[in-house]
Amino acid sequence: MRVVVAMTGATGAVLGIGVLEALARLGVETHLVLSEWARATIKLETDVSVGEVRALATHAYGARDLAAAISSGSFRTDGMVVCPCSMKTLSAIRIGFSDNLITRAADVTLKERRRLVLVTREAPLSEIHLENMQYLARAGAVIFPPTVAYYARPRSVQEVTDYVVGRVIDQLGIEHSLINRWKDDRRLGVHGDAGLAVVRATK
Ligand SMILES: Cc1cc2nc3c(=O)[nH]c(=O)nc-3n(C[C@H](O)[C@H](O)[C@H](O)COP(=O)(O)O)c2cc1C
Repeated sequence: MRVVVAMTGATGAVLGIGVLEALARLGVETHLVLSEWARATIKLETDVSVGEVRALATHAYGARDLAAAISSGSFRTDGMVVCPCSMKTLSAIRIGFSDNLITRAADVTLKERRRLVLVTREAPLSEIHLENMQYLARAGAVIFPPTVAYYARPRSVQEVTDYVVGRVIDQLGIEHSLINRWKDDRRLGVHGDAGLAVVRATK
């Protein structure tokens, strides 16, 4: 499988990092784009360098590289996830304003009728945010705010993060057993006992 992963400057850099780690573990080919403000939030919110995040992906591109493979619909992918997705990038995707590689790749994903998962992060939400999300949901995108699943009884921020990551991977249509599902005891864990995590976002 081949998936485009974009990270923007909404809070939650650990979520994008977790998605990249999980996809790497699952043997999925990833094409990564970081916005300028994703680079900033990686530095502000984690102990991981931008270089380490890029190294988690199979391919990484600059956000201004509109000639990259993922800029064209002829380059086949199995979908795209924007994690985390800022309200700015959400609004640009909504109107098809493709001035960087993230919004262009999302535009391509929608026009090619491929899976687009937007892990939108903001609170509270204005009418503008809600309307943009509703419009994109109707246009075929999955709107996936990263919220806490209290029923999973998370004991740490890491467990909250792992659960969101697992559910995001579900939305990409990828089989996995990274999370503890409701009434299902099997668990491997994104950062499970095997210690397969490539990087840890916090020390
Ligand atoms: C630490 C930090 C946290 C932020 N959190 C959010 C957020 O949760 N949601 C959001 O829409 N913007 C957030 N922003 C603002 C975005 O970074 C800003 O709107 C930026 O222009 C987004 O650009 P991008 O989508 O190209 O990354 C945050 C900025 C910083 C510095």
